[in-house]
Amino acid sequence: MSKKIGILTSGGDCAGLNTVIRAVTLRAVNKYNWQVYGIKDGTLGLMTDPLNIIELKPTDFDGNLMRMGGTFLGSNNKGNPFNSDISDQIIDSFKKIKLDALIGIGGDGSMKILQALTKKGRINFVGIPKTIDNDVKENELSIGYDTAVDIATNALDMLQPTAASHRRAMILEVMGRDAGHIALNAGIAGGADVILIPEIPYSLKSISRHIEKIRSTGRNHALVVVAESVRKEDGSRVTVKFVDGEVRLGGIGAYIGDEIYKSTEAETRVTVLGHVQRGAPPTHRDRLIASAFGVYAVDLVAKEKFNRIVVWQNRGVTDIDLDSIAGKSKTISKNDPLIKVAEGLGIYVGEL
Ligand code: F6P
Repeated sequence: MSKKIGILTSGGDCAGLNTVIRAVTLRAVNKYNWQVYGIKDGTLGLMTDPLNIIELKPTDFDGNLMRMGGTFLGSNNKGNPFNSDISDQIIDSFKKIKLDALIGIGGDGSMKILQALTKKGRINFVGIPKTIDNDVKENELSIGYDTAVDIATNALDMLQPTAASHRRAMILEVMGRDAGHIALNAGIAGGADVILIPEIPYSLKSISRHIEKIRSTGRNHALVVVAESVRKEDGSRVTVKFVDGEVRLGGIGAYIGDEIYKSTEAETRVTVLGHVQRGAPPTHRDRLIASAFGVYAVDLVAKEKFNRIVVWQNRGVTDIDLDSIAGKSKTISKNDPLIKVAEGLGIYVGEL
């Protein structure tokens, strides 16, 4: 039976979104002969008059779209429709276009909102996880994460030579919200000496001792990676407030840099990597999981299996109940195998 499905990208963008939109469109049109509607700017596209939606065709992807960062549908990571109670308007718009199902691509925050919206409006929903933070529970890989780690690793590759030239300790602040996946993975891959993640407490004294030890071996420089949500030693968060009132994590690198400078007299410089972690062309791995997730999500709609999220487990795609991950997020424990690897390499990863 012919179906009409909607697709939207929600939350912070990342690499691989255009790839997954392509996969959904190719599978839905070529295999099932369905119509696919792209909803622009997350749920904002359902709040305009006329609605901001476009029909997607496989030929839309004949060019280089799947290779490009960002999302050509646009996204939105501000506000929660339930706070201002515009949820009814979004649900009405959804019904107006008579969609049989919605495929929502988002991180854990967006998934929670989309799930609540679709439950309230009795809309058939399938979720696809994307987030550079890689913090979706029960899911080994989210779309966009691999590219972000690659960018952060490349940044360390470029910081090391200049650190050595100037005998400096270079601090690299990376994104990741409340999880340290990007910092830990890029830190190991990029040869960091210190990796600070929000899940493991650290001591400034131990960091200085570690840098002194490196100096005593004759090495004149060091690389420090710090995740954006690491707190100051006194437990306070470091954030940035923008003119529109939005608050985001950011600035912990400067604090760590100053403290290292003061205690070791090693000259420090700080690089805040920011949104370059999100806008790059997707790596082959992100393209692969995006393609696999897209095909699988459409097949779930065909089987009328709803309120599910597709996940990557044991080198393949499967699906789980969205309710089973609600309100949970995947962070790093002290027993994580990669913490053992970091320790084995002599990297300071906090007070274990
Ligand atoms: O969740 C993705 C993410 O990139 C986080 O790592 C980061 O804290 C946040 O979004 C930045 O948000 P914005 O794009 O609003 O600055």
